[in-house]
Amino acid sequence: MDAFRFTAKTTTPISYKTRWQAPSNIALIKYWGKEKNQIPKNPSLSFTLQKCVTKTSIEFQPKPSLGLTFDFFFEGKPNSNFLPKLNQFLEQIRPYVSWIDQYHLTIKSDNSFPHSSGIASSASSMAALALCIMEVEREMDTAITDLQFIRKASFLARLGSGSAARSIEGPITVWGKNPSINEASDDYAIKIDSLHSVFSTYQDTVLIVEKGSKSVSSTQGHALMKGHPFANQRFDQAQQHLHSLLEIMREGNLEDFIRIVESEALTLHAMMMTSQPYYLLMEPQTLSIIQKVWNYRRETSIPLCFTLDAGANIHLLYPKLYASKICDFIKNELSLHCQQGFFIEDEVGMGAKKMYI
Ligand code: PMV
Repeated sequence: MDAFRFTAKTTTPISYKTRWQAPSNIALIKYWGKEKNQIPKNPSLSFTLQKCVTKTSIEFQPKPSLGLTFDFFFEGKPNSNFLPKLNQFLEQIRPYVSWIDQYHLTIKSDNSFPHSSGIASSASSMAALALCIMEVEREMDTAITDLQFIRKASFLARLGSGSAARSIEGPITVWGKNPSINEASDDYAIKIDSLHSVFSTYQDTVLIVEKGSKSVSSTQGHALMKGHPFANQRFDQAQQHLHSLLEIMREGNLEDFIRIVESEALTLHAMMMTSQPYYLLMEPQTLSIIQKVWNYRRETSIPLCFTLDAGANIHLLYPKLYASKICDFIKNELSLHCQQGFFIEDEVGMGAKKMYI
């Protein structure tokens, strides 16, 4: 996308240090299946989280020779596990931020959530990196508007990890073209306004059924949609679900909201169960929790629902109004199914923030 290539004339390198905090997000309409460079096969919609965040600082030091060089520290220590992904990200974005070759980068990152909690950090970490890089770009090109800044940050983050495009703004974003949203793009995510106020304080409690990394990476997962027998039906369904969900979220109809959100979660897993090779990513504890959530909803009429990532953990979604009752239910009934009783209480958030060093 040529519109995002850096074109300012003056690129005299400057020493600069910047720090950003970017949130994780949870998709309600799932992105599953992509073309090259994280162009999605269908649009997705997510809640931006508040407390599950990555904080990243980058020190840019001008250097005499050109080329990509960087050091990486995770939670205060040099860490080589993340280097391949980081290197791949920087190589991907390089054509759009060609000025970066004039610097040595010292990157330091921390997550607010425990390292092996099973919460993917790629969305929040790629978004935080993209924002640090955009801040330097704006120092060099002061003509960049706020909207251009945000869109290019989302665009760059997407090149690292598709869902990272949705980790710049909040509380609700859409990434991927859909006929009901004129501005929606496959290149970056946009914020969705004018939804019912119940969604501006929606709660998300993440029940950790399985800590550690996923058995199928999302890269492998997306590839499974190539030649999948139900791929086209799934991509059409996601388009229709997004169209309906936007209307439902404008009205605040929670019964219909639940119907679509849970169906999306189960469809994501159904895609993995019906691909070649096939995978079962839920654990027995995941199913026990789902059954208990459905029973609780039937017995209490409280609009508690779940969504799933491509793994065994469960995100419980509910209006803030019911937080204290649901918190009791989680502590007394659901935490028994969590690994070491572990869960994370989060809620929708307003997006990434610049941190003052
Ligand atoms: O951004 P990726 O490539 O890690 O893919 C994310 C896929 C899901 O988390 C399963 C769905 C989504 O839309 O976030």
